[in-house]
Amino acid sequence: MKTRITELFGIQHPIIQGGMHFVGLADLAAAVSNAGGLGLITALTLKTPELLAREIARCHTMTDKPFGVNLTFLPTFSEPPYAEYIAAIAEGGVRIVETAGRSPEQYMPALKAFGAKVIHKCTSVRHALKAESIGCDAVSVDGFECGGHPGEDDIPNMILLPRAAEELTIPFVASGGMADARSLVAALALGADGMNMGTRFVATKEAPVHENVKKAIVAASELDTRLVMRPLRNTERVLKNAGVDRILQIESERGDKLQISDILEQVAGVYPKVMVEGVMDAGAWSCGMVAGLINDIPSVHELITRIMKEAEQLIHGRLAGMLKGSGQRAAVELA
Ligand SMILES: Cc1cc2nc3c(=O)[nH]c(=O)nc-3n(C[C@H](O)[C@H](O)[C@H](O)COP(=O)(O)O)c2cc1C
Repeated sequence: MKTRITELFGIQHPIIQGGMHFVGLADLAAAVSNAGGLGLITALTLKTPELLAREIARCHTMTDKPFGVNLTFLPTFSEPPYAEYIAAIAEGGVRIVETAGRSPEQYMPALKAFGAKVIHKCTSVRHALKAESIGCDAVSVDGFECGGHPGEDDIPNMILLPRAAEELTIPFVASGGMADARSLVAALALGADGMNMGTRFVATKEAPVHENVKKAIVAASELDTRLVMRPLRNTERVLKNAGVDRILQIESERGDKLQISDILEQVAGVYPKVMVEGVMDAGAWSCGMVAGLINDIPSVHELITRIMKEAEQLIHGRLAGMLKGSGQRAAVELA
């Protein structure tokens, strides 16, 4: 399949693996790129720019296909050395950068100086337009259903994607709630040029996380995520667990007076406990409603191949069949 996204990034399939803290390491990024998608290493999981440089070098030994680096601009207490992370990306020969969080405006000259193609992840049409205006090459449009930070506007993809298509000139991918061929075909119909997946890629063989995490995603339904940190205007969609219940209890007790320090125990330093040690009740870790559509733990290659094969069947079978009047109910049997 050829879209503006496959053309822009020089990839075979219009499928991107979004940056994911403690998940987006070289193992997963290389697997996604080897399967014809675009894999991303998550810069801030590597504690220093030197460690990121090593992870990029490790990824080069695992794939000769294009891969990128996610750079998340977060409202953190101590600002990471972003300029040095960017230098590590440039020197590591990576030419695709996914930015997320705050606007990348301040860093665009440095990114463009070494010819990076920049895809900015955002949760509203106005932020997507801003990204376009500052020279981003593409955007990833993250709907309210997404795992991680959906912003504060709460617009689901059924509305957000066609709105983005109406306003944007640059290519964009649909992000949030994407899991399979149905997601891809729907996203393309709504005007996107591909899709970005987070949660779905966590439940794959190559994702370098504890088995408990993969099993928890498979076991979860679409009803099992919660929004935390809403009163701080730093909303995050996470999988419900005992630590998350505690956050919600503190949030309801503190109301408008909530401070980040009230819930620090359940939000800081949680990722290593969950992703490395498999302690599932440790606190808040991002997970999308799409968990309800995830029922297996395939290899990345199996997942991407299945999506592309079934997308073709959906388009040629179910959709074309309807036009021909054969009215098939479901041409695709999902695993
Ligand atoms: C475990 C996990 C960690 C994530 N960490 C980050 C991150 O560090 N930076 C970022 O930009 N997005 C992060 N995300 C968001 C994803 O890149 C992606 O935008 C999102 O998961 C899409 O929604 P989906 O989960 O419904 O596919 C994370 C998502 C998950 C599930």
